[in-house]
Amino acid sequence: MKLRHTTANDVIATLELEPHVEGGFFRRTYQADHRDMLETTGGPRFLMTSIYYLLTADSPVGQFHFNQSDILHYFHLGDAIEYSLIHADGSLQTLVMGSDVLAGHQLQLHVPGGIWKASRLLNGENGFGLISEAVSPGFDFADMEMGSRQKLTAQYPQHRALIEKLTRDED
Ligand code: GUN
Repeated sequence: MKLRHTTANDVIATLELEPHVEGGFFRRTYQADHRDMLETTGGPRFLMTSIYYLLTADSPVGQFHFNQSDILHYFHLGDAIEYSLIHADGSLQTLVMGSDVLAGHQLQLHVPGGIWKASRLLNGENGFGLISEAVSPGFDFADMEMGSRQKLTAQYPQHRALIEKLTRDED
């Protein structure tokens, strides 16, 4: 569905999004600060946090990264987004979030903690794709690891081409 007159910059400005270290743009919209913190092995965390997350034609990739927490993703607006998930056993799962449910697009995506995830905006007429993420236990940078191209290609050589496309060149 074409969102008339809405551009990536309109969404960034209206939702007050900032650049994310993974690529794309985000803003935290919720943290459960009215409840007791959850004690995890990594330290105290909010029970849940939530963000908007946007990919754009200029920043189309959320680089491979690892999360300890479970994350529920909800598609909102714009072009479809392809997700690449590398599980601990090395298996690759690829799926698409988007609004074309008849084409098999997912409106919701559950990504359990403990796997590597990357996302990529697919070509479309909007030039952006907007989702939300609900994270539990709440997001903390200490629970997240950005994917090193060298480390990931050594660990999962069968996915080298994909990893090279969806990580930063560190050299
Ligand atoms: N990824 C998922 N949730 C968050 C968050 O709250 N902050 C940051 N920086 N990244 C996230």
